Amino acid sequence: MTRTRRAYVETYGCQMNISDGELMEGILEARGYGIADRPEDADVILVNTCAIREHAEKRVLGRVGQLKGLKADNPDLVLGVTGCMAQRMGDDLARKAPWVDLVMGPDGYRSLPEALDRVRRGDVKSHETVVPAPSGRSKKRGPQLTVLDLDTGENYQGLEQRRTSDVAAWVPIQRGCDHRCTYCIVPYVRGPEKNRDPLEILGEVAGIAAGGVTEVTLLGQTVNSWVSGDWTFARLLRSVARVPGIRRVRFTSPHPNDLTEELVEVMAEEPAVCEQLHLPAQAGNDRTLKRMVRRYTVESFLEKVEMARKAIPDLSLSTDIIVAFPGETHEEFEDTLELMRTVRFDDAFTYKYSEREGTPATRLPRDQFVPDDVAQSRLERLIEVARGIQAEINAGEVGRVEEVLVEKEARDPGHLLGRTRRNKVVAFPGDLAHVGSYRTVALTSTTGATFAGEAVDAGRPGALTAVAGD
Ligand code: 5AD
Ligand code: SF4
Repeated sequence: MTRTRRAYVETYGCQMNISDGELMEGILEARGYGIADRPEDADVILVNTCAIREHAEKRVLGRVGQLKGLKADNPDLVLGVTGCMAQRMGDDLARKAPWVDLVMGPDGYRSLPEALDRVRRGDVKSHETVVPAPSGRSKKRGPQLTVLDLDTGENYQGLEQRRTSDVAAWVPIQRGCDHRCTYCIVPYVRGPEKNRDPLEILGEVAGIAAGGVTEVTLLGQTVNSWVSGDWTFARLLRSVARVPGIRRVRFTSPHPNDLTEELVEVMAEEPAVCEQLHLPAQAGNDRTLKRMVRRYTVESFLEKVEMARKAIPDLSLSTDIIVAFPGETHEEFEDTLELMRTVRFDDAFTYKYSEREGTPATRLPRDQFVPDDVAQSRLERLIEVARGIQAEINAGEVGRVEEVLVEKEARDPGHLLGRTRRNKVVAFPGDLAHVGSYRTVALTSTTGATFAGEAVDAGRPGALTAVAGD
């Protein structure tokens, strides 16, 4: 009898990548693989990578180097690198890391089981490499396989994700991106925008709800530009919000330009759509936005914010900001701080510009690139301003009573961690049996970023089957 092969998937990066990790697990499980919880227990290790910033890539390369040590105990172990960095580096990664057996970009996952079989059979046309064995003896390694075709027809239809959370589910509705923001590698590693079929999406959401999960987050690189025939994103969002059993719907990340009145109306009208919007601004200066090719101005961004806030009172807003884009002057950076003060985001994800080979921004004049110490101090200033605003907003929310979906045990034993509809994190004393249920929680204090609270209801242990309106 042959032993069941076991796969371990380790994911880095954004929610789309986490969702892709679940997809790879689902694809392998459907082909008879078991899923291992630790790399030591696996016959196949896949490191699912992100390419958005250099820092993320460096971390992953270190981790892959560490995992190769497991091959000493298990010579048949297959080590693969998947995802955006695999796509970006391709054959170069295979050459630099000869212990990697498979390099596969995001459009290759459908053929993952076949690719692993080919690696095992040595049925690979690519280069042969010799690397020293851990003992110091030279050991001949098998050939490496790289799967890097960008497939514009790949819409991931019919592939099943392995969902690990009993509480909330990610649902990718779109892959790739048709924008060309000049700093961004995504369009090059994930290809053009590909949208999934609405009925398939709704079927998937119905299945998720039938399994007792009540919160879904729709995912896409520019999720609100999703369109299919006469279906707009707003229509899809309304339909998802009305799937029986679904009690909370979120979506990320929208592009400000596609935040339409129709969409905001659906957000305001559908009780299941949460009062939360992540709206990446990237910068608060028109010249920078223009050179980023974001296709909006500070004024039009602010108009979108106003439109959303008018329709959805108490809307919680978050954003992404990049500092030190090449050519950003000190005054232009100050404009970004001004945008933060004007909008007063509840949360901000802040980044230093990271040069990504092959993107248009790399061709800007070298003398415009902002030195790292300047970039670092801008980042620190931005974080200080963003945190200050966040702390003020959150201090003003202490005393509120909120519906919290319990996600997991908090680090503090005897405490639970959950989120409000407005995506605020709350820790409160409670029993693990309440994970997956909704509790009514009074917010008693804040650290600035998160809240502590006290449940003010009796609670219903393990209420995984909670449905809207109960
Ligand atoms: N450098 C820094 N940040 C980047 N992002 C995307 N590309 C880069 C880059 N080259 C940020 C953007 C995006 C978020 C997911 O990552 O803010 O919204
Ligand atoms: Fe990158 Fe811009 Fe597309 Fe977002 S919209 S994935 S930032 S190119």
